[in-house]
Amino acid sequence: MPAIVVIGAHWGDEGKGKIVDMLSQSADMVARFSGGDNAGHTVINHLGEFSLHQIPTGIFCPNATCVIGNGAVVNAETALRELELVEGLGIDVSRFHISDQAQLVLPYHLMLDGAEEAYRGDEAIGTTKRGIGPAYTDKVGRVGLRTGDLLDTDELAARLGRAVQTINIRLQGYGAKPASFPELFKLCQGYAQRLRLYIRPVGALLNEALAKGETVIFEGAQGTLLDLDFGTYPYVTSSSTTAQGVYTGAGIRPRALECVLGVFKAYTTRVGTGPMPTELLDETGELIRQRAKEFGTTTGRARRCGWFDAVAGRYSVDLNGMTAGALTRLDVLDDFPSVRVCVAYELDGRRIEHFPTNQATLDRCKPIYEELPGWLAPTPDLRQFDQLPQNARAYIRRLEELVGCEMRLISVGPRRDETIHAKPLL
Ligand code: IMP
Repeated sequence: MPAIVVIGAHWGDEGKGKIVDMLSQSADMVARFSGGDNAGHTVINHLGEFSLHQIPTGIFCPNATCVIGNGAVVNAETALRELELVEGLGIDVSRFHISDQAQLVLPYHLMLDGAEEAYRGDEAIGTTKRGIGPAYTDKVGRVGLRTGDLLDTDELAARLGRAVQTINIRLQGYGAKPASFPELFKLCQGYAQRLRLYIRPVGALLNEALAKGETVIFEGAQGTLLDLDFGTYPYVTSSSTTAQGVYTGAGIRPRALECVLGVFKAYTTRVGTGPMPTELLDETGELIRQRAKEFGTTTGRARRCGWFDAVAGRYSVDLNGMTAGALTRLDVLDDFPSVRVCVAYELDGRRIEHFPTNQATLDRCKPIYEELPGWLAPTPDLRQFDQLPQNARAYIRRLEELVGCEMRLISVGPRRDETIHAKPLL
């Protein structure tokens, strides 16, 4: 059986949580490979509605081994809180593991995130303030602490000592309170005690599962356009959010993936700063936001809403090598008399079909829309593609044509069963 990666096609919040939860039902392993608790993956199941930020959503499936790969960053407080929550529901968490090579997000990273954002002023990125950027900065700067460091007290003291020295130079530069080594050391010893059981090399576990032909779901976080290299830099997150990130973020062998499933929302949203050509600053944008309850799972911020951006979608399909698509939240558009799709951009008076890699250029792009008739009929109870109103089918077909990828799953509501399985994923 296959290795599937689930990737957000635009700027995140496409509804990956529901899709991963569905696919996890028949998975042997579920793995996070990038980002940290800046993500918010919502799952609705027989136990209730949950937003998981740090641990894989597969934890709700009794048979799946769940892992956090080396490419993710781990806020131990969040991980422990979520483990406690699911354990309280009677879920066995012994099948959860954290890579000993994953970086830790420590309290000083959160302080730095806040200080750096304040310093950026008008150019603030609008981060989730979860310390993600500073934690990845430390990784690249080779002063980060990995979860494996928690397992050796002497190593922990030495590495933390060095980290605190360099962090305090940065904190001081922002006029922020310095971090205290004794406090942090005590905190980390507490984490070590509580997380020890879960920390191990997970790349080997994943490769073994893949070699045995088991089903492994790689749970992407954020979206393609927030990727550190390929997104709308500098208004991006600090990790590799694309399918490319799976190989370095989970430590699996190249060519292991058989399905790259891109999750698209029937319209487009973005949280935080940065260009978004189809953003609607009018009542239509507000209508989408209210109907779809587009408020951040992690920060509660109102999401910026707009029509489906097929130029960005096509870029995302090509970049990730998407083999299948899932279209979510189709039901949100049920009541619109007409819907629009951005098919190209106008840049300095010229029509362009490609997604610019430079944010200043993207900032100048204006959407060129195609208008399609709405379907003015409820879709949440429909389970077959052919049952969808003709105009809804036409809308989906047009999106497929524009982005170059088939929508094999159509989501018409938040629950697992509110899904149309239009075609097998493989
Ligand atoms: P950071 O990841 O907290 O550093 O934030 C960097 C950018 O990514 C900001 O614009 C955030 O709003 C955005 N971002 C981070 N995580 C998510 C997410 O899960 N969904 C949508 N946007 C996100």
